[in-house]
Amino acid sequence: MSLEIARKKHAELSQEIERHDQKYYQDDAPTLSDGEYDGLRQDLMALESKYPELITAKSPTQKIGAKPAKGFGKIQHAVPMLSLSNVFNEEEISDFFDRVRRFLKLPETESVEIVAEPKIDGLSCSIRYEKGVLVHAATRGDGYEGENITENIKTLDDIPQMINDAPDILEVRGEVYMSRQDFLTLNEKQAAAGKAVFANPRNAAAGSLRQLDVSVTKSRALKFFGYALGEINESLAETQWGVRERLKSFGFPQAEPTSLCINVEAIMQNYEELNNLRPDLDYEIDGIVYKINNLSWQERLGFVARSPRWATAHKFPAEKAVTIINDIDIQVGRTGVLTPVARLEPITVGGVVVSNATLHNDDEIKRKDVRISDHVVIQRAGDVIPQVVEVLFDKRQDNAAPFTFPKICPVCDSLVLREEDAVAWRCSGGLICKAQAVERIKHFVSRQAFNIEGMGKKVVEQFCDEGILKTPVDIFRLEERDKSSLTPLRAREGWGDLSAKNLFQSINDRRTISLDRFIYALGISQVGEVTAKKLSATYESLNAIKNAMAGDKEKIYEELINIDDIGPSVAEDLIAFFNETHNQEILTELAQQLTIKPYEVAQNTDSAIAGKVMVFTGTMEQMGRAEAKAKAESLGAKITGSVSKKTDYLVAGADSGSKLKKAKELGVTVLTEEEWLTLIV
Ligand code: IVH
Repeated sequence: MSLEIARKKHAELSQEIERHDQKYYQDDAPTLSDGEYDGLRQDLMALESKYPELITAKSPTQKIGAKPAKGFGKIQHAVPMLSLSNVFNEEEISDFFDRVRRFLKLPETESVEIVAEPKIDGLSCSIRYEKGVLVHAATRGDGYEGENITENIKTLDDIPQMINDAPDILEVRGEVYMSRQDFLTLNEKQAAAGKAVFANPRNAAAGSLRQLDVSVTKSRALKFFGYALGEINESLAETQWGVRERLKSFGFPQAEPTSLCINVEAIMQNYEELNNLRPDLDYEIDGIVYKINNLSWQERLGFVARSPRWATAHKFPAEKAVTIINDIDIQVGRTGVLTPVARLEPITVGGVVVSNATLHNDDEIKRKDVRISDHVVIQRAGDVIPQVVEVLFDKRQDNAAPFTFPKICPVCDSLVLREEDAVAWRCSGGLICKAQAVERIKHFVSRQAFNIEGMGKKVVEQFCDEGILKTPVDIFRLEERDKSSLTPLRAREGWGDLSAKNLFQSINDRRTISLDRFIYALGISQVGEVTAKKLSATYESLNAIKNAMAGDKEKIYEELINIDDIGPSVAEDLIAFFNETHNQEILTELAQQLTIKPYEVAQNTDSAIAGKVMVFTGTMEQMGRAEAKAKAESLGAKITGSVSKKTDYLVAGADSGSKLKKAKELGVTVLTEEEWLTLIV
């Protein structure tokens, strides 16, 4: 090849690589696989090694970190960013009020004010100011750690970069969104330029904000509503309404119309009004958020699992459509439960194409008499899985036969069983069932568990199919295995040097994990995040849990059901899990690969009750029992259900019975409600 031809080839290759860099980094829409991209770079390097005179400062091979690690830096949230529980009707709203009243022990005469604010369909973020200067901004991420989008956020006109009279530390939380009009305009532009259009304003907002090239974000019309606070070093107001006013004075737009309601009737009336107004609003909303106005009550109410007790979201009615059931498939979940899924003739419901809907279980299929080939009404509410509501019997075909639920697992052929009183059929294959293994690994790497980036559902399925992943332990052996593999990841279709490196990196980043996340990740039947936390708080280390489970069965059963919120059936599932030989092997192997951090019980180690084992009994005057327990836990105490030698304090309200008697017998310190209250101030 003459130098001239080499120069021409060099220019072409360089241009092509730059074009793909742009697609990858700025449009978030690569059109080449990583392998193909790496191929281009290798060609360029080969050319340059033959013709060194072609190397210039501009050459893609010379850029520092020519293809830098994709993605944003991470930011830990000072206060977790949580989600909201949902209510769908008047009864559930009434229950919400009742729960709040009971928790706070409010007298009948006390009214509860609620701020009803539109629920904006965008993406939430947290913006931190220190001494009035915007220092960083992050997406929600997994609620504890989000992506650093500081530079992107700074391009929004709705967000001040300096605030004059802000507290020294101020975190403002809110929703970045795109107005309907701006969304339409953007899509017209995208279409005209031959680029992909966005499915809805929320996707458009997310796609525009999460851009590594900030100039792209700047060119998009993004807006913001501030609606909540993260960390603050001084209070802004006494009410949520007051917070809105302060946020407005700092320059953050507030969602309107927002109203103050004092009972269920007012809430329902406001709901109707806003639902009617919905099509006329310039931005998309998917419901209304109700927040207790009184901030000191909000503080007392606190959180349960991932949502505050002081707020809930009232979703707008589900959108419905009619379509045909082409087939009914059976999916096998992580714990072996068989779920029937209707495969539908694809149909658009509220702007989203739906081709699957859950049929829940065998009883539901029978109750609704759903058959293959039926015309059915389906509905989709928010991000909940679409459901089959009813069959249109007048359109049923003569030959439509009732659906027979399988008696053997469609994946591993094991018998399916149903416990007495249970609605679900379960595959009895346990560890030999591949479907369960795949689902367990998906759960293990999911956001709330190990949160391994780059290991999405498709990747897990592929690796399991190929036998690379059989148990979660294999995840941590992937990199070693890959080194000696004839077909290393980077050489596979859809993978490249960079994506393989990134995957191993994110796996290695998660080798240290807190005990509660670890327990949750195991995917034990009925053990969600709350139970995992309670168990971790009680036993503090994996070894302690294993030892306890290996001991006398009756003793551990008693111990477990004595943990607040753990009932007999959860206790049985826990004991069964930890006593299964194969599970024990996996736990040992996992422990070798990981550093499992002991659960940090006390958020407040200098409190008088940190580390103490407490029992509450009887009726209390000042706060409900739920509040008392939540308060004690936040101060580092462990709550159990019955009195034993290990109990440090029994808090006895009025009408205490057998627990008080037992405490006295065992010489456990008994506190009156007043004494308990003085202990925690
Ligand atoms: S208050 C602890 N107010 O909805 C969470 N959230 O589905 C307090 N959202 O994560 C949030 N509009 O991102 C609040 N007016 C509003 C909202 C709102 C939308 C989002 C928020 C939250 C999600 C829950």
